[in-house]
Amino acid sequence: MLKMKKSALISAVCAVFIFVMATAGCSNLKLKKGWGSDKKVNDGRGKIVIGLCMDTLQEERWQKDRDLFIERAKELGAEVRVTEAAGDDELQNKQADNLISQGVDILVVVPHNGVTAAKIVDKAHRDGIKVVAYDRLINNSRPDLYISFDNEKVGYIQGSYLLKHKPVGNYVLIGGAPTDFNAKLFRDGQMRALQPAIDKGDIKIVFDDWAEDWKASNARRLVDNALTINNDNVDAIVVSNDGTAGGAIQALKSRKLDGIVLVSGQDADLVACQRVVEGTQTMTVYKPIRKLARTAAEITVALAKGEDISDRANQTVNNGTADIPSLLIEPVQVDKANMMDTVIADGFHTYDEIYRNVPEDKRPPKK
Ligand code: BGC
Repeated sequence: MLKMKKSALISAVCAVFIFVMATAGCSNLKLKKGWGSDKKVNDGRGKIVIGLCMDTLQEERWQKDRDLFIERAKELGAEVRVTEAAGDDELQNKQADNLISQGVDILVVVPHNGVTAAKIVDKAHRDGIKVVAYDRLINNSRPDLYISFDNEKVGYIQGSYLLKHKPVGNYVLIGGAPTDFNAKLFRDGQMRALQPAIDKGDIKIVFDDWAEDWKASNARRLVDNALTINNDNVDAIVVSNDGTAGGAIQALKSRKLDGIVLVSGQDADLVACQRVVEGTQTMTVYKPIRKLARTAAEITVALAKGEDISDRANQTVNNGTADIPSLLIEPVQVDKANMMDTVIADGFHTYDEIYRNVPEDKRPPKK
């Protein structure tokens, strides 16, 4: 060995270097042209590793998203590495950087902040990694796919449902987190439903604010303010999700107005479905998370393999920078009357869970 010629030694070192480079990271990779940058492609010989960067796992729905996504990815032979940023933009960006340096094949991001998460997309693209924006759009960048529900329609369903049941009166608007682009889409849809009645003078918006970070405690404080300012003279509260609806209902309860003032929500969280059948929350919007998570896992694996997914996207959504290929799933309006045929029929929650607090003689017959 010591006697090995210098040129032979250099060749040996080079061979080891090339071998290490070829096997580095999680998979066998080659670069293929994608839009925005050269993209990593897993040619199927190595296990696909997906980085799933979640904003939060606080609301019930996100735990379902995570579990269902991992389940489907596993079925397809992929591994998922999950991070949770707990609502911290900087932390989310660091976690994404970390996943990129671990050599993941592709990133799936639920951004806490649709604007600052653009850095994640840019960094990933520089490293040849594709990015899927999951449920929430990422602005100022070019994610490779946006998969979500029709969020404007979620807001439209909320606004039009409350309007149908309270066509005249004082309305309060409680939006979601201002950092979440979805919150704006929900508001757009709510206003599309409410504006004609506002213009006619049938309803009046007597308070309008946004619950920072989607926190129930913030919604409770805002609704408390709204009630104080209006001497409790409020007929309907357009709340954008179930978590914040919980806060709004606590504020109503402290004034014995729960079940009297209409309240909307979204996500079909178990506690919200219970409130709907018990009468303190008027409606929620059910979003089939199973379909979203499983479809997202399937398309993510296909993207990581470099497959053409253009037939999977059903539209484009402009994020301020470009038209992003998107797949949007239909949301479903849920109230007391159709709980059995929607959330329960779909197996999202069971009959026994939802009607747990309702006396047996007041429950609908089990199907
Ligand atoms: C999601 C909602 C969720 C909210 C708070 C939104 O982006 O679309 O389903 O309730 O974030 O986490």
